[in-house]
Amino acid sequence: MVDRRRFLEALAALGVSQAVPARAADRRIDFDAFPFALGVASGYPQPDGMVLWTRLTGELGPATIPVRWEVATDDSMRGIVASGSAEAHPAWAHAVHVEPRGLAPDRWYWYRFRAGDASSPVGRTRTAPAAGSVASRLRFAFASCQQYEQGYFGAYRHIVADAPDLVAFLGDYIYESSWGSNHVRKHTGRGQPYTLEEYRARYALYKSDPDLQAGHAACPWIATWDDHEVINDYAGERLDGGRQNLPFLARRAAAYRAYYEHMPLPARMRPGDGPMRIYTELDWGGLARFCVLDDRQYRVFQACRKDGTRSAPVVDPEECAELSDPARTLLGAAQERWLESALGESRARWNVLAQQTPMSQFDQKPGPGRRAWTDGWDGYPVARKRLLDFLSAGKIRNPVVLGGDVHSFNVNELKADFDDPHSPVVASELVGTSITSQAWPQEKLNEFLPENPHMKLVDSRYRGYVRVEVTAGRMLADLRAMESVTQPDAACTTLAGFVVEDGKAGPQRT
Ligand SMILES: [Fe+2]
Repeated sequence: MVDRRRFLEALAALGVSQAVPARAADRRIDFDAFPFALGVASGYPQPDGMVLWTRLTGELGPATIPVRWEVATDDSMRGIVASGSAEAHPAWAHAVHVEPRGLAPDRWYWYRFRAGDASSPVGRTRTAPAAGSVASRLRFAFASCQQYEQGYFGAYRHIVADAPDLVAFLGDYIYESSWGSNHVRKHTGRGQPYTLEEYRARYALYKSDPDLQAGHAACPWIATWDDHEVINDYAGERLDGGRQNLPFLARRAAAYRAYYEHMPLPARMRPGDGPMRIYTELDWGGLARFCVLDDRQYRVFQACRKDGTRSAPVVDPEECAELSDPARTLLGAAQERWLESALGESRARWNVLAQQTPMSQFDQKPGPGRRAWTDGWDGYPVARKRLLDFLSAGKIRNPVVLGGDVHSFNVNELKADFDDPHSPVVASELVGTSITSQAWPQEKLNEFLPENPHMKLVDSRYRGYVRVEVTAGRMLADLRAMESVTQPDAACTTLAGFVVEDGKAGPQRT
């Protein structure tokens, strides 16, 4: 463990301070520019409220700025049903997170913020159905992996047009590095972010995208992160074998803090001086329980990864004994215990694991033998088996795993033993493609398909998202494919549809 005093010193060196300058609440505010340029967002809907977010930008100085918030039953903000005042602190980049309560379940609301003479755009949000109520339908979208330089975030135009109840974002909201080809725009700043100010600037750049702002303003989100919110392929407290030390943990703390500052997260997730708990459960009446997982913060270092390497390896399991060490964990012991109790106590018809990286085995070696990518669940096969065994032994109702990270659509059967064609299907897996991030060529993936008969679809050709409709009897998933990401107004079509029927694990083509 890192010495706490040294850690705090490093945070201070990065510009993270606990001190908040005071400010007279009635001082006149003159903004040099529109202070709500990053838009508004909401998240984590409960039956009686949700999180509302904004962040003031511009030359704001060291002062704390009072911000009014209002919730109304109409988009013209006439019927105000909740309002209050919050403080935008410079120590938190003038971000505002408020959590109105006392709202009615299962209905839409509108909200806005005001500071000085400025009013934010009006956002649309909603509450979840009452606990245990039999909600008739939930429509949500899930998305991941939005490398800013590699395309426009036009997929959000189609998500907005779908008018979902909820968006689940599954990681790689920003990218720390520039990579790929055919860039349509550029990251600002000098290279990768390292300090808090640099991560803040990267989030502000991404959040300047009008389509991303529209996606946030359209409905509440739930979110988890993957590696690129900090740096490629980090694992827990380690960046690589040679640098299990102070600079990485301070960098991670700065990245986590900037993530909190820019996302509509509940105050209970606000980070202290290091870790940040974002895994949580969320209920949609008695219809669905979402378990939002953190695959990144508590994992042990990737198996057979050499010191000093920038990414996790693809290995032959026969040559990497460490891979099958039962002590290896992806979620960490505390999150595993929490997940087992959240699933064990769930009375929902559908139990959705909203997480980052594909869970299904994916053999990357044509012909005999196997190769496994160690950064996904394939790098933690004993932990995966423990989770899948829990789902079947605990008779968890309709488990569906959502994922991202690989920038391709994958629709999979999750099996107790992927190498046994007669092994039962334990759960369903839907992996969404990226919003913009580039993928392996389809021809390369095609070579691996005969090795992976539990994968019903693998398609890396398109960017896009997944649109899901949940009712008591079935879950329908449409794989939504963008024609292009070089134009923000490109068309989007449904590449394929899959259905999971109540009581029958495994997605089927519609
Ligand atoms: Fe990604």
